[in-house]
Amino acid sequence: MQGKVGIIGAGLVGAAAGYLLANVPGVSEVVLLDVDLARARSEAADIAHAAAFGSPALVRAGDYADLAGTQVVVVTAGASLKPGQTRLDLLAANVGVVSSVLQQVLAVVPDTVLLFATNPVDVMPAVAVRRFGVPPGRAIGTGCALDSARFRDRLARHLGVSPSSVHANVLGEHGDTEVLHWSGAQVAGMPLLDFAEKLGHPLPAEVRDTIVKEVRTSAYRIKEGKGVSNFGIGGCIARLTRAIVNDEHVVFSTSTFMEELLGVPETCISLPHVLSAQGASQPFLPPLDRGEEIALRHSAEVLRKAIQRGLA
Ligand code: 2OP
Repeated sequence: MQGKVGIIGAGLVGAAAGYLLANVPGVSEVVLLDVDLARARSEAADIAHAAAFGSPALVRAGDYADLAGTQVVVVTAGASLKPGQTRLDLLAANVGVVSSVLQQVLAVVPDTVLLFATNPVDVMPAVAVRRFGVPPGRAIGTGCALDSARFRDRLARHLGVSPSSVHANVLGEHGDTEVLHWSGAQVAGMPLLDFAEKLGHPLPAEVRDTIVKEVRTSAYRIKEGKGVSNFGIGGCIARLTRAIVNDEHVVFSTSTFMEELLGVPETCISLPHVLSAQGASQPFLPPLDRGEEIALRHSAEVLRKAIQRGLA
């Protein structure tokens, strides 16, 4: 059904995504699933009450059969990052959870678009493709769409312009090896560093290094204060889902399974993709400087090994 969205996992991430999705134009229905049905029911009721203030979307809890007709299924189920862990530390636990979820989802909606937010988020599309035969464009990891938003937000604050005027992406793993694509970043049709210089807010190497650290460790720092990061990823899920539901053909840095990238076989990392009702297009590898290319190849290699471990 046009605009019907399922969310697997009604924890803080699933609930944040559901809350935002209830207000996304084009989304007609949101079905929340969780192994804890009481929790899914409570979250769905709470979100439905908020939606009653203006959203036309129907929000309810359900089971797998209620996913019939979903255009997009968002997967947030699984263990979340604890202090001191990296996303790849969640591999063993979450590949099992996501495999069991996929078996049940695909039995009901084999042609739906899958959007993964469960970490390690770049491994899950590979699980869908390799274990379940889902076409790569219909198994999308939120990947570095969130990191790109964090990068733009940080640059926008430095420059004093709106994040929507900053065109900058993070590529690679949604995690410790991610690559901030400085050489491709632009504002006002100008290379970012030239724009910053002209504006009188230059971005010398030491400032760029600080920004890299801040963007890369955002989730770790958020978790130190509140134990979970949910609104950033909730916003990311809502935005990507909106692009798919409304066939927007908008470009985001997300992850899909690739047979080969920069000489690395069978990997899955974030690159720009066009998102539409069909899911994700092929990935587009933008021009990179030498350092970015080396770092991206390393990220692709780290994910190749993680995928191998996950599928073993
Ligand atoms: C985040 O980056 C934990 O992956 C999640 O907020």
